[in-house]
Amino acid sequence: MSNPAGIDALAFAGPAGFVEMTDLASARGVDPGKYLKGLGQRRMAIASPCEDTVTMAADAAARALHGFDIDPAEIGTLIVGTETGVDHSKPVAVYVHELLGLDQRCRTFETKHACYGAMAGLTASIDWIGSGRARGRKALVIASDIARYGLNTAGEPTQGAGAVAMVVSENPRLLSIDPTRIGDYTRQVMDFWRPLYSKYAFADGHYSIQCYLDALTGARQDAVGERSDLLAELGACLYHVPFVKMAFKAHQRQLEMERGGPLSKDHNESWRLLTDSYQRLAAPWLGLNAEIGNIYTGSLFLALIDLLRQAAESLADREVSLFSYGSGCGATFCIGRIGEDAARWREALDPADQLAARRRLSIDEYETLITATEQADTADQLDPSSYGLNGGLYYVGTRDHCRQYSRS
Ligand code: HMG
Repeated sequence: MSNPAGIDALAFAGPAGFVEMTDLASARGVDPGKYLKGLGQRRMAIASPCEDTVTMAADAAARALHGFDIDPAEIGTLIVGTETGVDHSKPVAVYVHELLGLDQRCRTFETKHACYGAMAGLTASIDWIGSGRARGRKALVIASDIARYGLNTAGEPTQGAGAVAMVVSENPRLLSIDPTRIGDYTRQVMDFWRPLYSKYAFADGHYSIQCYLDALTGARQDAVGERSDLLAELGACLYHVPFVKMAFKAHQRQLEMERGGPLSKDHNESWRLLTDSYQRLAAPWLGLNAEIGNIYTGSLFLALIDLLRQAAESLADREVSLFSYGSGCGATFCIGRIGEDAARWREALDPADQLAARRRLSIDEYETLITATEQADTADQLDPSSYGLNGGLYYVGTRDHCRQYSRS
């Protein structure tokens, strides 16, 4: 590779509560098989009013810096990719800049393009490093979001919340990105959007799946052309995961592109080829997505964390594909290479302890939290302990129109 910049550090942070999909299914009168198998989800993370895009971003970033022994003074660019920012003007990134105590000689901004914002930040950081402007410094790119579709909607079982922080540098320990095989795709579509007046996203759900697959086709062609043998060379395929079954549909599309036609369940042999390929290249890294739900900008990188915590050793120095999709729509397909010693950092990036400490919310508690969150932006004072939260950074209300954050 001509430029080995890529991901040097990686960490996740998310809310303290989750909903079990079987509980949601029974409350909504839906066969649990639809959520568990049809969508592939087991649980979804639910943010309380005191856990917002800023607190999750700062928490994930602190874990990435601390866990990978990176001095905050080394950060020269900070980008937060989010579609659930906390202000129309002020970026989440500048709150995070203060909370982490970063140097003032730092370029800091927010990117928005639905779930694509963090991938835009990652590739911009790679360009920043490649241009020589970084002068040896590193970029901190954070994906932080709360996916809200509203109670009793088709999108409700595809909610989630969380942040993934990545430090991007030269000679990265975890994953280098090949700058000659980054492919892009843009098309104006109304598949999923959130107007200024709404806290909840509107989605044309089935159309959005089609838009995602078309974008995968376009971005992959831009990255690697009409290749028919890419999957055979790869050690893994990572996708944007709004719900786990989407990764299967995406993998099917990649295989169809290589075989030059549609694959159908009615043709046993080709379907077995698809399911074998999916089981080998994509399914093993979807466990965190199934546990946490859609975290929008961070979903692809959650799959990367899952891969690295399980298979960094067996896939050391192997190439993997990454596909990021943001509704509206924009997408990137690229090829990365797992670091030779990436397995040494397994403990630093594995969120298993955090997930084990989460609390299962009853459906009544979940619905109460959702309603309380709707009022949170204008609340004078919020008490994290009333949501069972302690020992972290929390949003505690808005005074004189300024958001207040506090550690408890
Ligand atoms: P729906 O209409 O409620 O569900 O919406 P469905 O009827 O299509 O069923 C879903 C699957 O479950 C189907 O499987 C059913 O057969 C199966 P498929 O045909 O797709 O293979 N099923 C069952 N399986 C087992 N046992 C059962 C059972 N019943 C049904 N009993 C939809 C589903 C995803 C459309 C909805 O949840 C939604 O609108 N979600 C939000 C939009 C979304 O996630 N779109 C994904 C692509 S766009 C994207 O990724 C961008 C995004 O992340 C936003 C951003 O960029 O910011 C969303």
